[in-house]
Amino acid sequence: MPRHLLNPMDFSVEELYKLMDLAGDIERNPDKYAHACDRKILATCFYEPSTRTRLSFEAAMYRLGGHVLGFSSANSSSAAKGESVSDTLRMISCYADICAMRHPKEGAAFVGAQKASIPLINAGDGGHQHPTQTLTDLLTIHSLHGAFEGLTVGLCGDLKFGRTVHSLINALTRYEGVKFVLISPPELKVPSYITEMLEQKGYEYKEVISLDEAIPELDILYMTRVQKERFFNEEDYVRMKDFYILDKEKMSHAKPDMLVLHPLPRVNEISVEVDDDPRAAYFQQAQYGMYIRMALILTLLGIEVE
Ligand code: NCD
Repeated sequence: MPRHLLNPMDFSVEELYKLMDLAGDIERNPDKYAHACDRKILATCFYEPSTRTRLSFEAAMYRLGGHVLGFSSANSSSAAKGESVSDTLRMISCYADICAMRHPKEGAAFVGAQKASIPLINAGDGGHQHPTQTLTDLLTIHSLHGAFEGLTVGLCGDLKFGRTVHSLINALTRYEGVKFVLISPPELKVPSYITEMLEQKGYEYKEVISLDEAIPELDILYMTRVQKERFFNEEDYVRMKDFYILDKEKMSHAKPDMLVLHPLPRVNEISVEVDDDPRAAYFQQAQYGMYIRMALILTLLGIEVE
């Protein structure tokens, strides 16, 4: 049975630290890994648009010496003819050694994994999970801020449809003393299964509307885009889209070492004037995404580099 990554909890805490160490070694010694995946093939099956996730997977594989094939929209694959995800994954297993898949439907990666005979990586399934973004977020926090324990983490924006938020909260509930400040308009609150999980595990959290009030206590501020494509009507989206805009003025009330993260793409929720603030880590975060994906590909393929 191949090993998959479908949910951020598929890796133990120890395995995650090992993965982050490996990513750090890759960053420091890229030449050591330049041929680690010679003649291996990564398939990127993207049924939904992507810039960072798909390209960082591709860059990761190329930097490991491997090759890449795939598709970047459902329209250019046999999905347009009505092929099921299961059948596509069965086919891909004949051509590639490992596959990263993004799909607009929640649970698609789980369905695909039943028929994949190669490691399958969930690169986002609808509004559900996005485990490799979470690996990216964890590596960024670990590298730039240190320990996870005791952090106060603010998540702001579309907490309802934002899959990166769901995955990150999930993953952070394995470290002691993490506090969550969930900042959203009432219409875009996190799904109740998330708050129920926090209660069950005994994590402190609060749900608030005002970013201004929340910002002074945060160690990490995780901003998110309002997920236009998951709204049922344009009107609601238009009403919500500019609900939060992080600007210089708001940043002046934040801790001097608070990190601003964002999975990107950004629309209006972070003003460009914040980009030059040393606390703005979102572009660096995108680069960490490539290193952690290199580490993940090696780990799932069982390749060790001496
Ligand atoms: C996120 C996604 O696709 O969920 N982007 C990403 O993978 N970096 C966030 C988003 O699209 O808003």
